[in-house]
Amino acid sequence: MNILDIAMRYVHIASAILAVGGMVYVLTCLLPSMRLVDETFRAALLELANRRFTRLLHLAIVGLLVSGIYNWIRLADTYKAMGAAGNALIGTKVLIALAMFVIAWGRAIGLIREGKPRLWLMVNIHLAAVVILLAVVLRFYRLAYLASA
Ligand code: HEM
Repeated sequence: MNILDIAMRYVHIASAILAVGGMVYVLTCLLPSMRLVDETFRAALLELANRRFTRLLHLAIVGLLVSGIYNWIRLADTYKAMGAAGNALIGTKVLIALAMFVIAWGRAIGLIREGKPRLWLMVNIHLAAVVILLAVVLRFYRLAYLASA
């Protein structure tokens, strides 16, 4: 364990909190509150909030990618030694995480059409819940393997 390991773990967890917390806030608080705002202001307000949140989300995705790849490289030998379960858990976690990034970036660059913001937020929040669960199981399983090895 060195200082870079600690820093990368911090970046990974902080970025996940930023991305997932932000999406949950937009879906459950910001969008429903917008119904109270006059229609003439609503579009402009949402456009500004969306532009600012997209910047934060991109920062979080870069943080997750850099720290995630670093963690994966550091732990690759252990996952290999854990056998099929270790590889399946990390592989599924990364695949689902990449699907989340494609949705977030696809919406930002217009690859996925605007409209239905709730649907895409809902999809990404559920994917995030699965990724976090896989991370918890993977960590638990890895530590149990190391304790028994
Ligand atoms: C390409 C993207 C990603 C890669 C390569 C990656 C890789 C990793 C790795 C290798 C670990 C360590 C697991 C272990 O302890 O054995 C980890 C932990 C974790 N990841 Fe990711 N991850 C990615 C994206 C995400 C995303 C999108 C989220 C959140 C939605 C996330 C949430 C977490 C959490 C909460 C942990 C546990 C942190 C800890 O206990 O230290 N990851 N990730």
